[in-house]
Amino acid sequence: MCGICASIGKGNQIEDVLKGLKRLEYRGYDSSGIALLKKAKIETIKSVGTINRLEEKVCGNDNSNVVIGHTRWATHGKVCKENSHPHLSFDGSVAIVHNGIIENFEELKKQLDGVEFHSQTDTEVFSNLIAKESGSSLEKLLSASKKVQGSFAIAVLFENEKKIYCAKRKSPLYVAIRQGQIMAASDISAFEDKFDFFYVLEDDEFAILSENKVEFFAADCTGIEKEQKMFEKTAFFEDFPDEKCFMRKEIAEQPIVLKRTSFKYFSEKVVSDETISKLKKFHNFHFVACGTAYHSALLGAEYLQRFAKKHCEVSVASEFRYGSQKINKKCLYVFVSQSGETADTIACASMVKEKGAKVLCVTNVPYCTLNNLADFILPTFAGKEIAVASTKAYVAQVFTMLILAGLMSEKDLSETLKRFVLSFQIKPFPEEILKEIFSYSKIFFVGRGQDYVTSLEGALKLKEIAYINCIGIAAGELKHGTLALVDDKTLVVVISTKKSMREKIENNIQEIKARGGKILLLSQFEHNVDVEYKIDLTAFDEEFMPIESIAFLQQLALAYALAEGYDPDKPRNLAKSVTVE
Ligand code: AGP
Repeated sequence: MCGICASIGKGNQIEDVLKGLKRLEYRGYDSSGIALLKKAKIETIKSVGTINRLEEKVCGNDNSNVVIGHTRWATHGKVCKENSHPHLSFDGSVAIVHNGIIENFEELKKQLDGVEFHSQTDTEVFSNLIAKESGSSLEKLLSASKKVQGSFAIAVLFENEKKIYCAKRKSPLYVAIRQGQIMAASDISAFEDKFDFFYVLEDDEFAILSENKVEFFAADCTGIEKEQKMFEKTAFFEDFPDEKCFMRKEIAEQPIVLKRTSFKYFSEKVVSDETISKLKKFHNFHFVACGTAYHSALLGAEYLQRFAKKHCEVSVASEFRYGSQKINKKCLYVFVSQSGETADTIACASMVKEKGAKVLCVTNVPYCTLNNLADFILPTFAGKEIAVASTKAYVAQVFTMLILAGLMSEKDLSETLKRFVLSFQIKPFPEEILKEIFSYSKIFFVGRGQDYVTSLEGALKLKEIAYINCIGIAAGELKHGTLALVDDKTLVVVISTKKSMREKIENNIQEIKARGGKILLLSQFEHNVDVEYKIDLTAFDEEFMPIESIAFLQQLALAYALAEGYDPDKPRNLAKSVTVE
């Protein structure tokens, strides 16, 4: 995973690189580091932990106008200073920061006979390969890149050279330019507040950043012209306020996100009628996504089936990618991804495209790798989501796919959708219930149909930020095995928002109670069974209830994490954007 950020210009560039890295921390925050050119020599500063820790290590004397930096999510080798980037070559002449995975690094290591390695990373091989090549710096970089298999976005410093060399394959890399400064980063969010223009580097292209210009080269070393893109300064561009807990802020923002989405689709018509007519022609839809986005895809499929009478399938990207299914050219493949940078999802979209099928991407970041592969784009308008646990991006995806289903349906749902956004609010999770349920560490989430999806998403939230080993399960599946785990120390969170399923859910509750399990019921209606705890949901139309109910489960997870003193925004072992498979 990881994020890279580099800057060259007039004056000290350290601050801008650190600022950029902070904005890329969603890609990993195990350790970080920078390399600077000082009196033509390369120096590195590294630290385990977040960029704040690295910042503490940078002292007043550190000053350079050529700086590359990295924030790491460990793939090869444990989290420690030695494994953090930048990695120097054996002779100290080359420093590299890298996002991606060098798949043949073991093999390359053997070829670098006599070189002493100081880390367990795949990246250290790359800096040494470059240093061992001959020719100009660009030629060295080109030939080393040819030997490397896998994915990379890199920024490289050579001693004695006031330049930054960049290259990429499969991992994203952007370059932005303004008077007196040029920056490169894994994501435009690293610098979008300062620049008006940027370039998107394509696979196997190279860039040389010098103090006053940027030059681009193709894989054969010939110079190329690249199209300049303008930043879209969106009206809802949210910078990084002094917010202690982004997850809390992002949960609270959900009503505004839905209002914005409704405005974008119904008033601004971000997706044209012509596009909708094209989409309507497809009868089969196959959704592909990971994690939370997979859960929203499950709901998207449910809505398209229910309202637009389409035939839908849903797959987890990492399974779809290596599965034996045939790609159907008549089917529309829908890739759902907040970041648009998730490696497995991107790989599936490329595979589908190569086989001649059409691709629809539901993404929250306009300039992302996934959108480059899209035939159709359905943007979501969650705004920047910083916390690793997805909350507002999830409801934005769910609501956007509901809008899509509405636009493709015979029945006009627009007024119902607009009415919903005007009345939807986040109600706080009842404190008195929280106090009582904190003692449970064995928790199951159950539901049927759309509530099964909410149970999966509720369990994922609790796992990822509160580190509780819980599961979400279809209520009807309980008695096929998992019921064996239920005892009087178990809390079962039951989501029941489908009237047609009420009696079935009541039976499931009885089965749990008979084994001593305690029930927390989330529903907008009464049930003929006593439960220990009940949260009364607002009674919206059934299709909106996943949005209403998940807000409580997001708050539940947040409360558990905070009670244990965990940082909900940066859970251990995870990163916001999973850019490696
Ligand atoms: C959500 O809370 C997770 N952090 C994770 O499951 C995430 O949804 C998944 O990695 C997919 O990310 P994407 O939407 O950026 O593709």
